[in-house]
Amino acid sequence: MASTFEFGAIADPQEAQQLGAILQQCFNFPAANWQPYSNLLGLENYRVIRCGGKAIAGLGIYHMGQWFGGQSVPMGGIAAVGVAPEHRGTGVAAELMRRTVQELWAKGVPLSTLYASTSRLYRKVGYEQAGNACRFSLPTLSLTPGDRLPVRPLDLAEHKPLQNLYRLRAQATNGNLDRNEAIWKRILQPPGEIIHAYGIGPETQPAGYVVFDQKPGAKGYNLQVRDLVILTPAAGRTLWTFFADHRSLASEITWKGPAVEPLLALLSEQTYQVVHLERWLMRIVDVPKALALRGYPVGVDTELHLEVQDDLLPENNGRFILAVSQGQGKVTPGGQGDLKLHVRGLAPLYSGLFTPQQLQAIGHLEATATALSAAAQIFAGAEPWMPDHF
Ligand SMILES: CC(C)(COP(=O)(O)OP(=O)(O)OC[C@H]1O[C@@H](n2cnc3c(N)ncnc32)[C@H](O)[C@@H]1OP(=O)(O)O)[C@@H](O)C(=O)NCCC(=O)NCCS
Repeated sequence: MASTFEFGAIADPQEAQQLGAILQQCFNFPAANWQPYSNLLGLENYRVIRCGGKAIAGLGIYHMGQWFGGQSVPMGGIAAVGVAPEHRGTGVAAELMRRTVQELWAKGVPLSTLYASTSRLYRKVGYEQAGNACRFSLPTLSLTPGDRLPVRPLDLAEHKPLQNLYRLRAQATNGNLDRNEAIWKRILQPPGEIIHAYGIGPETQPAGYVVFDQKPGAKGYNLQVRDLVILTPAAGRTLWTFFADHRSLASEITWKGPAVEPLLALLSEQTYQVVHLERWLMRIVDVPKALALRGYPVGVDTELHLEVQDDLLPENNGRFILAVSQGQGKVTPGGQGDLKLHVRGLAPLYSGLFTPQQLQAIGHLEATATALSAAAQIFAGAEPWMPDHF
C-alpha cells in the first residue's frame, strides 16, 4: 500500500534516467528534452517515489516566491507530477504529494502553488483554487496606431533590466511569481526558439517591455507574447500601437493577463477573446508563517480570530489571532476562533481570489458577521493572477 513506498531525492544518475523516462511518457515530450529540463530545475529539486528499488513516480519543485500584499512569500512551485502507468490508481501520487508538502513544511516554506490537470489529487492534500491565469487573443486589424513612446530592441542575454521592471509590476500585484532563474530562462531562452524583446519608453525612463515569438498564423504569423510589463498609460497605448504596426502580416496577438485585464480598457473596441482561463491551486503549508509574511492593506488596523483545520500538517490545526496594523500581520496562537475554515479554504481567502462572503456562500468557511467584515478588510486587494506556467 501507499505507506510502503519510499520517498526521497534522486539517488543517482540511473534513477534520474528512470524518472526522465516516466515524465517523458506522462507528458509526451521528446526524450532529448529531459536533460535540458532537469538541468534547468536542478536534479536536487526532484523527488521520487520508489518501489522495489526503482523510481515509479516523481515531481519537480521550483523554489521561488509569490507576491501577496507587496511582500514576496517563499513558495515551492510543484511541476511535472507523474506516475508510471502500471502503478497508477493505488495512491502513489497522493503519497508523493503528501510527502512533498510535509518536506516543504519541515524546510520552512510557507506556500506551495501548482497548475492541476486533475484537482482531486491536490485537493486531497490541502490545495485549493487561489488565482487566475488567463490568455487573451486580439486581431491585429482591430488595432489603430496611436501613441508612440520610443520602442527599442532589448538584449535577451541581459536579464537585469527586464527583471527590474517585472519586479515593479509583480510586487504591486497579488499572486505574481517572485521568479527564480529557471522561470526567467524558460521565458527568455527557450531552446530552439527565436525570441524578440522590446523595451517601451526612453532608455533613461523605461515604462515597460514586451517579449514575444512568432508562430504560424492565418495570414502570415501570430505574435505570441511570452512576457509583458506595462507600467504607465502611455506605455499601454504604445504597446497597442506597436502591435498595430505588425498588422500587414501578423493576424493576431495572444498574451496572458489577469481575468480582469486593465489593458483591455485601453482598446477602442472590445475585439478581444478570452482563449483560456485556468485557476492555479495553492496550499498554505505553514499557516502562521504564511499569514505573518504577506503584506496587508495599509490603513487597516484590526484583528481576526481564526480556527484552522488541517488533516495533513497537525501544526496548522487550531486557533490563531492575526493582528494587522501598518501593512503588517502578527500571528499569535489562541483566540476565539470566530472564522472557522479548512486549510483548503484558507488558500483563496489568503490570495484574495474570493471575498470571505463568497467563501462562506460556497461552504469554505463559517464566521461571525464581525469576523467576516474584518477578513474582508484584511484580505482585500487586486485579483490574484500570474502569467507564468510551470
Ligand atoms: C494524475 C496522476 C499523477 C495520478 O496518479 P495516481 O497515482 O494514479 O493517483 P492516486 O492513485 O494517488 O490518486 C489520488 C486521488 O486522485 C484521484 N485521481 C487520480 N487521477 C485522476 C484523474 N485523472 N482524474 C481525476 N481524479 C484522479 C484519485 O481518484 C484519488 O482520489 P480518491 O482517493 O479520492 O479516489 C497520474 O495519472 C499521471 O501520472 N498522469 C499523467 C501525468 C499527469 O497528468 N500529471 C498531473 C499533472 S498536474
